[in-house]
Amino acid sequence: MKIKKRTQLGYGLISLPVTLLAMMFSVTATAGDIAAGKAKSATCVGCHGSNGIGNSPEFPNLAGQKQAYLAKQLKAFRSGKRSDPSMNAMVKALSDADIDNLAAYYASLSMGGASESGQKSASVTSKASKTEFPETVFITMKKSGSVESFPTEKVWPGGPNMLYNAITPDGKLLLATSPSTGSVYAFNATTGKQRAVIGVGKAPKGVKITPNGQFAYVSNEGSGDISVIDLKSLKVIDTIKVEKGPHNVRFTRNGKIAYVTLQGGAGIGVIDTKQRKQIRVIPVPGITGPHNIDLSADEKTAYVRDFVHHVAVLDLKSGKVKKVIKVGNGHGGIDVAPNGQYAVTAAIGDNIISLIDTKDLSVKNIEVGNGPHGIRASKDSRWIYVTLTKDNIVAVVNAKTLSVEKKIAVEKFPFWVAVQGNP
Ligand code: HEC
Repeated sequence: MKIKKRTQLGYGLISLPVTLLAMMFSVTATAGDIAAGKAKSATCVGCHGSNGIGNSPEFPNLAGQKQAYLAKQLKAFRSGKRSDPSMNAMVKALSDADIDNLAAYYASLSMGGASESGQKSASVTSKASKTEFPETVFITMKKSGSVESFPTEKVWPGGPNMLYNAITPDGKLLLATSPSTGSVYAFNATTGKQRAVIGVGKAPKGVKITPNGQFAYVSNEGSGDISVIDLKSLKVIDTIKVEKGPHNVRFTRNGKIAYVTLQGGAGIGVIDTKQRKQIRVIPVPGITGPHNIDLSADEKTAYVRDFVHHVAVLDLKSGKVKKVIKVGNGHGGIDVAPNGQYAVTAAIGDNIISLIDTKDLSVKNIEVGNGPHGIRASKDSRWIYVTLTKDNIVAVVNAKTLSVEKKIAVEKFPFWVAVQGNP
């Protein structure tokens, strides 16, 4: 049995031993993967609603219904024993596993939007709320090619391979890269409506938006350059040649400089954004393939995450590596919290995130789940959002207690996190 959603700390269940919890839930949930069920439910939401509450009177509520009953009804629709033209068509192609997953997912949702407290189903349901998502947060899902917005949990269709994303400072435009098609998708960040698909270079990875909100820089790993998109016209207006394998950039707050990770191995490229030219390359010895980057609050130090399991702490003025820190295995994102107190990095080949104290560079590892890659703190630095690519979960870590406060099921292969107010 897999329990993909976890209790909020407030329910007090978290302190029970895991085995006891497993026994409790096994009564109601025998089989079925909630996250897989949620992913499968994309075709159901048109009638049964995104929260399992029917969109209109003829569509029954499914949220909080007993799992065994739901599975039985779905099988009855599939065999034709229970007859309803739309439902018979909807379930025709579902496997037994799909049915179990869907039943587990709908059973896990809370009924009728009623208060969650005191309801047993609420303990495995972690609905996103304004508390942990004070600003809007967007997650790109690589395998399902979609984007999910939080705290609303609305899912929008995107394009193949949605990878990195970025939100404009005014919160109106969302961009997401699609490396397999060599393009960037632009969405209205409120409605999810696609505004444009913009052709860029080969294998675009990271996308970042200038602090003034006028341009986006897209790192084309395959063509060794950066496409500059004008966000008014949504057109590429320039291309900046850099060293091999650019992966992602970080702008200084004044927007004058963009630092680009050169995963091919050269180090960190320094781009003058006025000339739109790479003016310098800072080598970063001691790490393999600079992957993602963020800056300290005073912007004098760069935290460079490599492709393997290191973070280099780089003094940008002298070009000296102050320290190489060992973190979890595999590549991942890195974020210096807006309050400057910690840097946090994920590790896709592992089950931990590493939190680096920016004062003394000490490290704490926090177990979060499988395949963490995208990572970003909330604007107030209070919460850390982590995408678990293998569990199809977004974990919300409390930066004060360093514990996982919520796990929220999402679609397949959640890859990157964009947080309004923490570029
Ligand atoms: C086009 C609209 C539509 C879509 C899409 C749809 N359903 Fe339904 N569903 C209905 C209607 C209408 C009923 C009520 C049928 C009846 O009156 O017997 C129903 C009934 C059900 C029931 C029985 C509820 C009960 O209380 O007995 C289940 C379970 C269910 N749907 C699950 C799903 C799942 C899972 C999907 C997605 C794979 C889905 N439905 C997609 C319209 C839809």
